[in-house]
Amino acid sequence: MSAGETGRSTHLYPPSAEVVKKATISGMAAYQALCREAEQDYTGYWARLAKEHVSWQKPFTQVLDESNAPFYQWFADGRLNVSYNCLDRHVDAGLGGKVALIFEADDGQVTRVTYKDLLGRVARFANGLKARGIRKGDRVLIYMPMSVEGVVAMQACARIGAIHSVVFGGFSAKSVHERIRDAGTVAVITADEQYRGGKNLPLKSVVDESLALGGCDSVRTVIVYRRTGGTCAMVAGRDVPWEEVVAGQPEICEPEWVDAEHPLFLLYTSGSTGQPKGVQHSSGGYLLHAILTTKWTFDLKPDDVFWCTADIGWVTGHTYVAYGPLACGGTQIVFEGVPVYPDAGRFWRMIQDHKVSIFYTAPTAIRSLIKAAETTPAVHPSKYDLSSLRLLGSVGEPINPAAWEWYYEHIGGGRCPIVDTFWQTETGGHMITPLPGVTTLVPGSCTLPFPGIQAAVVDEAGHELEWGKSGILVVTKPWPSMIRTIWGDPERFKKSYFPQDFHGKLYLAGDGASRDAETGYFTITGRIDDVLNISGHRMGTMEIESALVSNPLVAEAAVVGRPDDVTGEAICAFVVLKRARPAAEEAKNIANDLRNWVAKEIGPIAKPKEIRFGDNLPKTRSGKIMRRLLRSLAKGEAITQDVSTLENPQILDQLKQAS
Ligand code: PRX
Repeated sequence: MSAGETGRSTHLYPPSAEVVKKATISGMAAYQALCREAEQDYTGYWARLAKEHVSWQKPFTQVLDESNAPFYQWFADGRLNVSYNCLDRHVDAGLGGKVALIFEADDGQVTRVTYKDLLGRVARFANGLKARGIRKGDRVLIYMPMSVEGVVAMQACARIGAIHSVVFGGFSAKSVHERIRDAGTVAVITADEQYRGGKNLPLKSVVDESLALGGCDSVRTVIVYRRTGGTCAMVAGRDVPWEEVVAGQPEICEPEWVDAEHPLFLLYTSGSTGQPKGVQHSSGGYLLHAILTTKWTFDLKPDDVFWCTADIGWVTGHTYVAYGPLACGGTQIVFEGVPVYPDAGRFWRMIQDHKVSIFYTAPTAIRSLIKAAETTPAVHPSKYDLSSLRLLGSVGEPINPAAWEWYYEHIGGGRCPIVDTFWQTETGGHMITPLPGVTTLVPGSCTLPFPGIQAAVVDEAGHELEWGKSGILVVTKPWPSMIRTIWGDPERFKKSYFPQDFHGKLYLAGDGASRDAETGYFTITGRIDDVLNISGHRMGTMEIESALVSNPLVAEAAVVGRPDDVTGEAICAFVVLKRARPAAEEAKNIANDLRNWVAKEIGPIAKPKEIRFGDNLPKTRSGKIMRRLLRSLAKGEAITQDVSTLENPQILDQLKQAS
């Protein structure tokens, strides 16, 4: 099995009659009817759904405002509150006693939280935030472990109209610092430490380190949830324990009714420059798509136990942990730990114990668990009762057909459809995905657009290509949950997503794609920009290069991706040192130091898997680094490209071998 082996399989998996019968969107005719409705009356279609699925405090009368394109607005004169939609409306409907969250800690301890409890906890924390002067529109950075409190913090921000910016707990102090400053953050919510795989990992001390880097005067409050009880310095007047924030606060907090376009959150993600971008999402449009995709792609029903394994630090953990399942009144798992602790049977044991019916994870996790199951029979999924499952999902990167088939057979028992959902931080929710009661599945293809989404494959000039040809993936019409802007940088928003090459009219996803000549099914061929996808996490090559060259030893660095069996892509860095190229043993030590340096600068996920040293990098006569040659070298491919424009062709031989 190899991740290099991407693309479509030729096997077809039509939905069973049983699945079709029970699905919310039942049968191809129902799917086509929705697509037709959207084609005939695009705004009418979204308006109907927004009225049916979202509770509005003040109904909207405008649907799509294109007057300042590409800064599109949806439902702009409507008012709502996202937290009200996720909590109050279920409690008001008599579902207060229903379990909203089943939290399983790293050590296996389980806590259940009902909708009524969750509403009370969110309201108390929201009141506590207000008491500390945090107001509508303020930016609040959340740096928390996977926890009930993490979800409470996000929901509480939504309740008072504060804009959260969740940063994954694996990011470094420097990354936290960058994000605090970029957003003009007024408060940070964190924990003393987090438990992951039996280890205690620091959080609060990372926040302290980031604040000490300077220029963070906007931060007035740091709220600290005690997770492990580990030592944790508290700065008087700034830092306050979570218990103190909620102490004495009532369990009722009137939601702050906000305009549909009020920003719900910022989420920083990598682009093709060194600077991460703060993707800004709206309240109304985002919520609508979170609800629709949870109901239609995941077919979530009242009795389901839903489990999305993503961390709240990524967009998947926003839409399919913190918002979508709650807005639909579902019961879901929140998991603190990692899939391989205490052993690689953890996911399967949890599915068995909690009778999970819908399971959503990333291909990287599947591939690493396949390896574990092959080598350690005790953690093979056949050792667990997985009969509660009825639907599986995949997200974050292309799933290779071999991993797909294994997932289908060994986890889904050959009876559960797999929804291979293509989407991005910027899209807010699923864009191209099978629907379980509709789509004949083809391993390796994300199949067809979600009803209402207008996706296409175009050439460099923006002209739609015939099916069967590979090209650039675009979205041809604005949709409700689309990115609204890049925080503080509207010009970059326009340039990155609505480039002039396409007359500012097409949303550029940054991925390549092709459509099957007969079915029109989409297959994503991977990023077409300088963004890598490591274990389903986005990393910009420039970000890693900037981190490397900030090391005093490094003169120059170029980073490329190469296929990896488990992580999909792996980071390979070519480095020129300020001193002479090191010999084998010393090179190993320096490479190790540089890896740790990158972990410190960005976070462990950005650590290069391989570092090769050279006297120089392959450059054109004008000094441009020829990355496509580096990509071939990293893959171990023979160089077949034209190298006549190279200034220094002899360097290729040197870089061929890992030093
Ligand atoms: O390259 C695509 C890949 O992940 C990128 C988006 O990354 P991010 O914003 O971090 O969001 C990940 C979770 C939604 C895309 O540009 N990607 C995501 N899902 C798939 C995928 N590639 C292939 N198949 C998918 N299902």
